[in-house]
Amino acid sequence: MTAWWKKSSVYQIYPRSFQDSNGDGIGDLQGIMQRLPYLEKLGIDIIWLGPIYDSPNDDNGYDIRDYQKIQKEFGSLDDFKQLVTAAKAHGIGIMMDLVVNHTSDEHQWFEEARSSRTSKYRDYYIFKEQPNNWGSFFSGSAWTYNEPTDDYYLHLFSTKQPDLNWENSEMRQVIYDMMKSWLKLGIVGFRMDVINLIAKDERFPDGEKQDGELYGDGSPYYMNLLKVHDYLKEMYKEVLADGDYVTVGETPGTTPESASVFTNPHDKELSMIFTFEHMDVDSEGPKWHHKPLDLVALKQIFERWQRELHGTGWNSLYWNNHDQPRVVSRFGQDGKYRVQSAKMLAIALHLMQGTPYIYQGEEIGMTNVDFQSIDEYRDIETLNYYEEQLANGKTAELTLQDIARKSRDHARTPMQWDETGGFTTGTPWIRMNDNVTQINVKAALADPNSIFYTYQQLIQLRKNEHIVQHGTFELLLKEHPQLFVYKRQDEQRTWLVIANFSEQTFAQNFATVDVTQLTKAIITNGGVRIDGEIIHIEPYGAAVFEV
Ligand code: NOJ
Repeated sequence: MTAWWKKSSVYQIYPRSFQDSNGDGIGDLQGIMQRLPYLEKLGIDIIWLGPIYDSPNDDNGYDIRDYQKIQKEFGSLDDFKQLVTAAKAHGIGIMMDLVVNHTSDEHQWFEEARSSRTSKYRDYYIFKEQPNNWGSFFSGSAWTYNEPTDDYYLHLFSTKQPDLNWENSEMRQVIYDMMKSWLKLGIVGFRMDVINLIAKDERFPDGEKQDGELYGDGSPYYMNLLKVHDYLKEMYKEVLADGDYVTVGETPGTTPESASVFTNPHDKELSMIFTFEHMDVDSEGPKWHHKPLDLVALKQIFERWQRELHGTGWNSLYWNNHDQPRVVSRFGQDGKYRVQSAKMLAIALHLMQGTPYIYQGEEIGMTNVDFQSIDEYRDIETLNYYEEQLANGKTAELTLQDIARKSRDHARTPMQWDETGGFTTGTPWIRMNDNVTQINVKAALADPNSIFYTYQQLIQLRKNEHIVQHGTFELLLKEHPQLFVYKRQDEQRTWLVIANFSEQTFAQNFATVDVTQLTKAIITNGGVRIDGEIIHIEPYGAAVFEV
């Protein structure tokens, strides 16, 4: 039987920026509840709720101070229980974010651990007399000196996100108990933050250092170590085995090969993972070093993942999340062809095999933001990068250019509900995009040709069509630099998916497809027309045909 989450579509909510209900400028749980009818109309099955636990918000909730408490600004535990119940009534399950590679430095465990070498919680974290040369993901060293105990603690992210020590079995049990307590409240599963980083090479060797780099690359010693699989199997057995839950692991640096180890159903680790390979195609080395999109490379990546996970594991499909700039500005075109390219991107992604994730605002084609200065950014990764580059002698102007392309804040501006914003009656914690006057939910719902309705249709196709859920994937026109064309096939049917990633127009024929037999498009953005043996494809045109 097909697992329920193989027919599902997930909608990601970044709670801070979705809907404020009390005018403090910060989104909250009551706000989310108000918007459930909208999400039901879109048709999604699962909400991935960004972290809502108590946190000092150094990294907007990815630094947890108390796993059992709700962040004040978001509401109370009662609000959360209400949300789970209300969502269920709308046919939607809640998937919580699970952040257990690290805690906040304000977590009581860490406060005790850092204050004394004899604390019981010392071994919940990783302290060393001497730091190695690893760099942190958020700039600077991955180690911070701790004065009271005269040693250093490891934090792969900010100094306020100390890494937990997964070698410690007591700590693991406490985490498992915490997970069970949330499952008891009726959630449907977890999205697991950087879960393939939880095991570390106990020798903590220096990483390789490139010329001109300040820090070594420690990733071979903390990414995808074999022990991660033991921990995930244990977690499954202890926490997840008794229910029909969905889990998705955020796993940077994975290949289709490692992904099928994480997600093959026999090993009982995860339902699916997030890969980053397709998100790295427009950068050279670090994410800030931009290069133009190479569609041939992107297609190769999709092909490999589609082919290698078919029948062995399970893909997730996404263009956006709270860590990525907006895809319509990135791989589409956010001016004249915004609507057309947003629909094209949706069709190209959602017709592949896997569980799709829609990030809030993607369904109305929200774009990157024209931030005016560094003062308008809020994200710690962005701000640390800015400081570090300036300290290394790079100009502010060049640094701001990098940031304008890739900052995570593009994804984090408030959801655009109506022409005045509709997010808050107060002052939003981060600025609203000026284009809210045109791009907003109210306008999208009123326009039968809006991007919203393309997403609505795609979600229904996924729910209802065996070929979308289970068909094989075959890439056509592999070397074509602008067209992404593929076939899906099951025992009964063959579908052809065409997507134009450019402003050019094409008149295309196919050696292996009898174009004259193509009937009405199953879904289209209107930019594809059949004329005898030729398919005419307009700028950013996309369509799906039964062959
Ligand atoms: C990945 C999350 O998606 C990101 O937002 C966060 O900063 C890091 N993990 C650290 O938790």
